[in-house]
Amino acid sequence: MLVAGARPNFMKVGPLYRQLSRHRGVKPFFVHTGQHYDYNMSESFLQDLGLPKPDAFLDAGSGSHAEQTARTMVAFEKICLQTKPNLVVVVGDVNSTMACAVTAKKLLIPVAHVEAGLRSRDMTMPEEINRLVTDAVSDYLFTPSRDADENLKQEGATTSKIYFVGNIMIDSLKAALPKARQKNALADFGFQPKGYGLITLHRPSNVDLNEKLGGIVKALLKISLKIPLIFPIHPRTLKNLHNRRLAEGLKSHPRLKITQPLGYIDFINLMMNTCFVLTDSGGIQEETTFLGVPCLTLRDNTERPITLTQGTNELVKLPDLTEKVRLILDGKWKHGKIPKYWDGKTAQRIAAVIRKI
Ligand code: UD1
Repeated sequence: MLVAGARPNFMKVGPLYRQLSRHRGVKPFFVHTGQHYDYNMSESFLQDLGLPKPDAFLDAGSGSHAEQTARTMVAFEKICLQTKPNLVVVVGDVNSTMACAVTAKKLLIPVAHVEAGLRSRDMTMPEEINRLVTDAVSDYLFTPSRDADENLKQEGATTSKIYFVGNIMIDSLKAALPKARQKNALADFGFQPKGYGLITLHRPSNVDLNEKLGGIVKALLKISLKIPLIFPIHPRTLKNLHNRRLAEGLKSHPRLKITQPLGYIDFINLMMNTCFVLTDSGGIQEETTFLGVPCLTLRDNTERPITLTQGTNELVKLPDLTEKVRLILDGKWKHGKIPKYWDGKTAQRIAAVIRKI
């Protein structure tokens, strides 16, 4: 049983679904928890990633963390009791991931976690709590990098549970590149290759606080004087811009373009051609490292340190942002390399283990 719920889950489940479908004796069953439900946060991703219609849709929806988690658990328990899966596979670190891992484990169903072992050590992030709980109850821990193995061992996980398989996001990214090259999303926005910056921000720590969000908008307007920016905007961020009356001034800004969240292929097209990315996403730190695109991460920490040590990513604080962008525009950014096993074959490695299980 493969579980996905929110936008960053679909690219992790897609390659595994396809691999498992090819194995005789394994029948994948795809559960969509419904944590994300807007067309452009969910269905468009299923289409772009070639995922089938979910075998079960739980309709968990939005709400407080407790409400969302509880609704997911109640609905997922019913599906598990009805279908009796031999293994539940959860991915990433969203609320759905944790809710389904705990529910399955209490029903004595073995649990596998893809993207295990990542740690930001920041307990104010809901995702960090989700990661810790999910890994603590999982029987099979599939890690994207060696630092994740070390984190798990330090927390007492037995080595035999840990499988270093690489980064499954890169499987989806590699598979999507030919299609993304054929797209011309940047021209649709009037951009030249490397002639714009790409922004994505949605973390509560950046967009839920009045002062911080106001400061971010100010900095973006300043940077846009040097290079035009495009900002595909997450529903949480848009809601907060409206609530704080910051949206009006941005609506028709000529050099800071706000748009709906984009589909997967369009977004990759913009990411592979951009001069730089400013983000607080986890997955985008990894995708830019793979693509060799400069990435500024507006956070105090990252659970993906390999993107700092080997890749093109750097953590940045708001007051330093314009200076960092200047360095990138002057061509003074590190080049980075692609980490081990970020090679498009992670789903194959996981499927081989699952088949043995
Ligand atoms: C969730 C994940 C986060 C991930 C992000 C990617 C958790 C704790 N957070 O954050 O790790 O990086 O997804 O997008 O699981 N909304 C819509 N339409 C949707 C989904 C959400 O309008 O399809 C709005 C709702 O107002 C909702 C808010 O966005 O309350 C936040 O959604 P939620 O799923 O709670 O968290 P995200 O911020 O999306």
